[in-house]
Formats: sequence, C-alpha cells, structure tokens
Amino acid sequence: MNESAPAARPPWIVLVAIDTSVTLPEGAIVGRDDFHAWLWEHADGLLGIDEGSVTATEAAASGLVPSWMVIDTAAAPPDRDWVADLAVAQVEWWFADESSARSAAGLVADLAGCRIRGIRVEEPVDREQPAPFGPVAISGFGTVRAAGDEGEAGIDENGAATIFIEPGLGFGTGLHETTQLCLAALADRRRRNGRFDRVLDHGSGSGILGIAAVVLGAGRVDAIEIDTNVHAALRDNARRNGVAGRLHVAHDLPVAADPYDVVVANIVAAVLLEQAAVLCGHVSRRGGELVLSGLLADEAPAVAKRFATLLGVRPQITERGVWTCLSFRSE
Ligand SMILES: C[S@@+](CC[C@H](N)C(=O)[O-])C[C@H]1O[C@@H](n2cnc3c(N)ncnc32)[C@H](O)[C@@H]1O
Repeated sequence: MNESAPAARPPWIVLVAIDTSVTLPEGAIVGRDDFHAWLWEHADGLLGIDEGSVTATEAAASGLVPSWMVIDTAAAPPDRDWVADLAVAQVEWWFADESSARSAAGLVADLAGCRIRGIRVEEPVDREQPAPFGPVAISGFGTVRAAGDEGEAGIDENGAATIFIEPGLGFGTGLHETTQLCLAALADRRRRNGRFDRVLDHGSGSGILGIAAVVLGAGRVDAIEIDTNVHAALRDNARRNGVAGRLHVAHDLPVAADPYDVVVANIVAAVLLEQAAVLCGHVSRRGGELVLSGLLADEAPAVAKRFATLLGVRPQITERGVWTCLSFRSE
C-alpha cells in the first residue's frame, strides 16, 4: 500500500500477539522460539523480529515477580528473560516491503495462539524538507491539498470537498487508491443524506478520513491509530483543517461506545478479519455504514463473507486499480 515510490523503501511491520504456544498449519504445537524459527523458514522478506521488553513495573503487574520494589537485579540470573515468561508476548515482525508483510499476515491469520494486532509502515519523516505534494483531485470527493497551501477546508457549491494534509507524517495523503475509495464512500454517504453524527476512523494514519468526515458534516470522529508516532501529526492535520474540536485521537478501539453512524477502516484483510466482531459491534444497526478498504481483489471475498454474516447485509463494492472497497449499509 505504498503511496509513492520512495528511493529507499521503508520497512513494513506486522504487530502480533503470541501465546506461549502456537499451532502450526500441519498441527504441531510449538513454543514461541520454534514458531519464530518456522516463520523465518516460511515468510519471504522477513528482516527481523522484535520481541519487545518487559520493564520491572510490567513484570510485577504481570505477576512475574512479587513487586517491582523487591527486584534484586544483582541476584537475577544473567539469562533472566521476562519476555519468554509472558503469557502473551507483543511482538513486531519487520518486513522488507508491503507484499511480504501482507503475505506473512495471511500465512499466520488462522493459527491458534497467534493474533494479528495491526500492520504499519515505518515512514521516514523529514519535517525539514517535506517532499513536494499535491493538490490531489479525487473523483467523487474533491481535492486534498498540502497543509502549507493557502485556503480553508470546506465544501464548495457543487459539493466538492477540499482538505489539507501534511505529506509524509502518517499514511494517508489521498494519493493511494485505498484512501480514495474511502473518501468517495464518505462523500457518497453525504450525497445520500446519511447520518454522520458519530464516526469511527479506524487506522487513522494522517487522519485524512476522519478530517474528511468532519468536513462532510460529522459531529464527532474517534480516530484510532496504533502507531503513536503519528498522533501529533494527526492532531496537527486536524487543527490545520479547523476540525480539532471534533476529532478525538486514541490508540485503541473503544471497548464500549454508543453506536457509530459510520465506521471506516482502511487497514489490511488480516487485521480486519481479526477485528471483525468488534468493528461490527460498533456500527449502528439503524442506518449505520461500515466501509472497509485496503483489500486486494483476491482478499475481498473472504472479508465480504465474514462481515456480511455478522451484519446481515451484503456489501456495495467499489474498485480503483487493484483495490476493492466494501460498504455495508444497514436499513
Ligand atoms: C493503510 S493506512 C490508512 C491511513 C488512512 N486512514 C488512509 O485511509 O489513508 C492504515 C493505518 O492503520 C494503522 N493500523 C494498523 N493496524 C491497526 C490497529 N490494529 N489499530 C489501529 N490502527 C492500526 C496503521 O498504523 C496505519 O496508519
């Protein structure tokens, strides 16, 4: 899902939660180390594995030690490995490119003991010299302009929207077709006079979809982004568009919240399938709409089937380039 063709490709990172044992496709149940040995053998483009670390406070909170105050590091054996002791380890797999990361996520998606939490790209950020950008005209929506351009976000007399985004700070400039499909779906909802009071923008990146939703009329947007490195840029983008008061940024999906009129998620199939029940639980069954993007043609049928079963409606399908977008609308 790279937006342009940078000189050096940034790594793609798959975030996974791994139990103490994982069931491999052939049925063998193996520990985390053997699972990772299997992954090295079967996943293309794997650059490295970051198993994270456990602080003394976390070790105490997880019951690995009685209290962080009584940890005697001098007495700890040199090979003490709290990560290995965790019941669930939060691990990052680093890949050379997007398609390797997507393939690996697909490879392990159905394995018991391993859950895909997210996928993100490690964007090189150069605030001093941002790459020249825009404006990007998007059919069915309007225009995305660089944050430094003159003007204010809004909608013209023909219904075309204009929003402003700082390029390079979080995924989502409007150049990518998966983003364009979502923007067109949001604008289409406005044309159909669909409700926009509450919107959930899952995998917000630069905030482009949430910002567009407010400009199109949303009362409140909850923007969920797992990559905290881009939260500040997301808020800056919201301020540049004059929508900061209506856009709320968070790291995790809300556990319990009033139903949303619109839930939009441009992530990848493996993450959407993993979170299907939670996402469907957030969509209002009274005229609510769920928009899913980031799907390649061969991934869309499985995603459509899963969400259609959960929501009881079949999706409207739109396509741009190799990408498919699914919109599920309740009555
Ligand atoms: C393809 S980008 C989409 C960005 C923007 N919404 C757009 O449409 O252009 C996907 C974003 O989802 C984030 N993401 C991936 N998994 C996530 C998860 N489980 N929870 C929240 N955000 C996640 C990534 O960090 C990334 O910023």
